[in-house]
Amino acid sequence: MARVFVVDDEEGICQILKTILEDEGYSVQTADRLYKARSLLDEETPDLLLLDIKMPDGDGLDFLESLKDGLRPPVIVISGHGQIEDAVRAIKLGAYDFLEKPVALEKLLGTVKKALRVRSRQPLKSEVPDILEGFVGETEAVKNLKSKVLLVAKADVTVLICGESGTGKGLLAKEIHRLSDRVEGPFVELNCAAIPDELLEAELFGYERGAFSGAYQQKRGKFEMAHDGILFLDEVADLSLAAQAKVLKVIEEKTLSRLGGNDLLTVDVRVVTATNRELGGQVDRGKFREDLYFRLNVVPLWIPPLRERKGDIEILFWYFLEMAEREVGKPVRQVDPDIFAVLREYSWPGNVRELKNVTKRLLIFSQDGRIGTELMRQVCLDLFERPKPLPSPGGRSDEERIAENLEQARKRFESRLILDRLELFDGNITKTARSLGISREYLSRRLKTLA
Ligand SMILES: Nc1ncnc2c1ncn2[C@@H]1O[C@H](COP(=O)(O)OP(=O)(O)OP(=O)(O)O)[C@@H](O)[C@H]1O
Ligand SMILES: [Mg+2]
Repeated sequence: MARVFVVDDEEGICQILKTILEDEGYSVQTADRLYKARSLLDEETPDLLLLDIKMPDGDGLDFLESLKDGLRPPVIVISGHGQIEDAVRAIKLGAYDFLEKPVALEKLLGTVKKALRVRSRQPLKSEVPDILEGFVGETEAVKNLKSKVLLVAKADVTVLICGESGTGKGLLAKEIHRLSDRVEGPFVELNCAAIPDELLEAELFGYERGAFSGAYQQKRGKFEMAHDGILFLDEVADLSLAAQAKVLKVIEEKTLSRLGGNDLLTVDVRVVTATNRELGGQVDRGKFREDLYFRLNVVPLWIPPLRERKGDIEILFWYFLEMAEREVGKPVRQVDPDIFAVLREYSWPGNVRELKNVTKRLLIFSQDGRIGTELMRQVCLDLFERPKPLPSPGGRSDEERIAENLEQARKRFESRLILDRLELFDGNITKTARSLGISREYLSRRLKTLA
């Protein structure tokens, strides 16, 4: 249970806040003088401090300043006067937020909840507004990447995005589109690895009726569809050599003809590519054309794996948690800071995608609005050791197995199945529901009650 200290000289306010917060399940202590607050704090550090500014025995902000950093809980400053200078000073002194009296109940509870998650550590926020905010990360490596992306997006050049699976290559390609002058134009995507060689050229360049058996009608290719926009060729290393030659030609000459056709069509397309392989090595092995490689590699963007930028784990966790809360419709009230040590220890072979899935899984299985290492051990065992096969009754004692009735077993199996399927579909609830043959609404309801 999270512990909150309320420091306010008005007895009435203390009482109201105490009642409201206790109703929400917090444990609350109050102090009507700063010296009392100090002795409370000397005894224990609460999870959150609500602090009034104007106190009979001193100024709340001076008090805030005097608190030692290491032991300081997050602080929400509440003031009856709403002075902008006070608000600025409070935030500069590291207060989590500044609220004016009278405080709307919902606003207060929302702020309390957010601050409690942060506990003694606030996720870092950059001072400059971040136009690449969809691509979350604050480490030097990511900052460098982002500044490069900003420059690249505006220049109308081909881009090669490299990085291991799940590092955010697809996301970055979309961000480039969003920031580019082609934002009003289409963003067309083709995963070169997902399509057999013989169909790939038809997909890329389209075909005329009768171009091959089965070509019953004319079809436009992805290059044509991407006219005035961006064509994102994902897993570009998987393009066949024949297709590579044609792609190069379109990039250089800005013209193409559909398979089985003679007309030369003009297309204005910017090509953005991604690969999780070392494309230079593919060139050395003769698998990738050198001229195309140089063409694509005008601006290489390299996204480092998550294990090389562990400083981003925490901020990504909060980001995905909020996203999952909204999607699943289930709130989390408290996050035990110990979990971050576990998250940082892990090597993240699936990179950011895996972190996103883990976060969602923790939310789904959380009870009483809490996420901690215990829950982690129950539902994300692979963070501690190698994954175990699912779902089997193995690994449990005979006693445990006998104690389980059919209903419990059914529930356990169902939980694992749903979770497994959710991971398969990258957390997409609509697709998961469809694949399980249930409605999205039903799945959402089930997710809230999973345990
Ligand atoms: N820096 C980031 N900030 C926010 N979300 C991210 C970030 N990096 C990745 N993601 C999310 O993680 C998931 C995986 O990212 P994405 O599909 O772009 O990776 P990828 O590198 O294209 O993977 P693959 O090689 O498997 O295609 C997506 O849901 C994406 O939105
Ligand atoms: Mg991808």
